Amino acid sequence: MHSVGIEKISFYTPPFYLNLSTLAEQRGQDPEKFRRGLGQEKMSQPAPDEDIITMAVKAADVILSETDKASIETILFATESGVDQSKSAGLYAHQLLQMPETCRIVEVKQACYAATAALQLAAGMIAWRPGKKVLILASDVARYDLDSPGEATQGAGAVALLVSHDPKIAELEWGCGLHSEGIHDFWRPNHRSTPLVDGKFSTKAYLNSLKFSWQGYFTETQRALTDHQWLCYHTPFCGMARKAHRELLHIHDLAPDTIELAPTLAYNREIGNAYTASLYLSLISLLETTEVDLSGQRVGCFSYGSGATGEFFSLKIQPGYQTHLPTAYHRKMLSDRQALDFATYQDWHEQGTARSEEDFVTPELTAGYPRFTGVTGQARCYK
Ligand code: COA
Repeated sequence: MHSVGIEKISFYTPPFYLNLSTLAEQRGQDPEKFRRGLGQEKMSQPAPDEDIITMAVKAADVILSETDKASIETILFATESGVDQSKSAGLYAHQLLQMPETCRIVEVKQACYAATAALQLAAGMIAWRPGKKVLILASDVARYDLDSPGEATQGAGAVALLVSHDPKIAELEWGCGLHSEGIHDFWRPNHRSTPLVDGKFSTKAYLNSLKFSWQGYFTETQRALTDHQWLCYHTPFCGMARKAHRELLHIHDLAPDTIELAPTLAYNREIGNAYTASLYLSLISLLETTEVDLSGQRVGCFSYGSGATGEFFSLKIQPGYQTHLPTAYHRKMLSDRQALDFATYQDWHEQGTARSEEDFVTPELTAGYPRFTGVTGQARCYK
């Protein structure tokens, strides 16, 4: 059997953020609650001329060569911030990336889990069509109601994964543990632009799904927890990943520091929640911020999407992976960001959650290609 996995990977996050100390001050909260309690420093905020499509295109553009584009037979767009009930966001991305017409494109949804479903689907597609590649675009704007408990856990970002038979970054290993149950911990009915969330229940549901998924994975693969040098978790906020880590190691009577966690959270702490993209952002964080050479090491991954589906699976990091990562580009992107004042944050939040049937034009606030320029004749326009 040929190996399958991640050949290339990159992320994009908007050039603006709100400092959580600013949010704490405005909401009359102790900044330590956000910093130490939730484990977050900043949350990325998209300007009105950015959306899930512009973010996904910017994440992908930096890694795709013309040869890659010609080999990509499928684009799977994973999101829970969809901009259309019918047309896949992937079709806009396909056009903006100027890709060949010989491509199938579909949107995948199951809350924050969808990118992992896309990865497993991609593996099957590649086994069936050797030589072809699948582009996964995981892109989300995590936006909760103003002044709600979830407000400090917002963020935005996209991850692009090129999946193929030539996994230069990480091989997807055989075996997985799955868990699904129909619950209402976090959901967003069609008439709403922000989710309804039972936050405390969602953290319990996440941990329950983790335990169940891990058990399934262990039963199938017989890999012990200590056979994994690293663990990456779905990270709605870093405190959640820390809780998950403690829980999983506790089951095995291991101290949390038996397996180091910090490098898997460095980027998430600066960006905030990116829903479907957040597990893969954690993976990039590990690959780019640890001093250790990860070649040959195994990373256990837990993906969770409210509602709820969870999956535990593993990746094997490939020798020479460092040379295939756009690390300098990512670091510059993070260090060049600008802090927003609170009034602008609130204004952009209101614009982002507004629902209108009227056409509109967005102000030019972000640099680079592409920009979301507004809606004309009820159709989204990009430049
Ligand atoms: N200094 C340090 N830590 C503090 C603190 C302070 N002054 N004040 C509170 N904390 C800690 C709390 O002890 C808690 O840590 P713990 O969970 O390890 O006990 C943490 O900060 C959060 O405080 P809490 O009072 O539980 O926050 P909250 O009820 O306002 O909101 C969530 C927490 C998770 C419910 C909320 O952020 C939310 O709804 N998020 C969205 C849903 C989500 O992401 N779910 C995750 C699964 S997908």
